[in-house]
Amino acid sequence: MMTTVVQLSDLHVRAPNDPLCGRIDTGAYLSRAVSSIQALPLAPDAVVITGDLVDLGRPEEYRQLRGLLAPLTSPLFLLAGNHDEVQALRAAFPDHPHLGTTGDLRYCAAVGGLLLIALDTTVPRQAHGALDAQRLDWLARALDAARDQPVLLAMHHPPFRTFIDHMDAMGLLQGAAELDALLRAHANVERVICGHVHRPIETRFGGTIASICPSPAHQIEMNLRPDAPPAWTLEPGGFTVHAWTRDTGLVSHLAYAGKFDGPYAFDDDG
Ligand SMILES: [Fe+2]
Repeated sequence: MMTTVVQLSDLHVRAPNDPLCGRIDTGAYLSRAVSSIQALPLAPDAVVITGDLVDLGRPEEYRQLRGLLAPLTSPLFLLAGNHDEVQALRAAFPDHPHLGTTGDLRYCAAVGGLLLIALDTTVPRQAHGALDAQRLDWLARALDAARDQPVLLAMHHPPFRTFIDHMDAMGLLQGAAELDALLRAHANVERVICGHVHRPIETRFGGTIASICPSPAHQIEMNLRPDAPPAWTLEPGGFTVHAWTRDTGLVSHLAYAGKFDGPYAFDDDG
């Protein structure tokens, strides 16, 4: 039996008529991605959004977000990023009991044959992320309880260096080494899925693979020079489709959001 999980990240939804940087209609980009997800031939078992759901953390942005996500028919799992205000997020999604009511936004949820563990890396009013002892202890207990269940660990800040230095400077600045050691002790972690850097990036981490999902809207410029200035581009946005079976483990596909020419059958010569 296959389990498929769509990962979206870094939506940065704004209030209506208030485009990001005066020109990026992040809501329109999200709508396009939602349409692409709804058009997938195989409906996903879940849609996981790894943070920066909105841009300024305002209640009206979360109301807008809720409306834009409404066409999704798969179960929805939300995480907070550094642009989110967790209490405003919770207030807009009162029918999502896994979001909790206070403290860190973290939870475990069964998704098909996978256990989704959502870990909060945010630090209030800071761009960078951190895993303190309390967060790591919670994760250790969750992983111990999962035993040999395959785990998808979701978090906003990636626990590895991307070489986009201006983003790494606001990366996971505390707890990455401890997380690496913890994951090495749990061979059942299939993948660490992250956001924050608005590009598809992957590396070996903690004895597993850690990956970053693009934004459906703006991407961070592909510039690995150490003096790269912070900059965004409007390269094609997208999402990731993670497919799992017990025999194969997790296989991940980058998908672009939007309507494109095709598909055409292989034997259709027009
Ligand atoms: Fe972001």
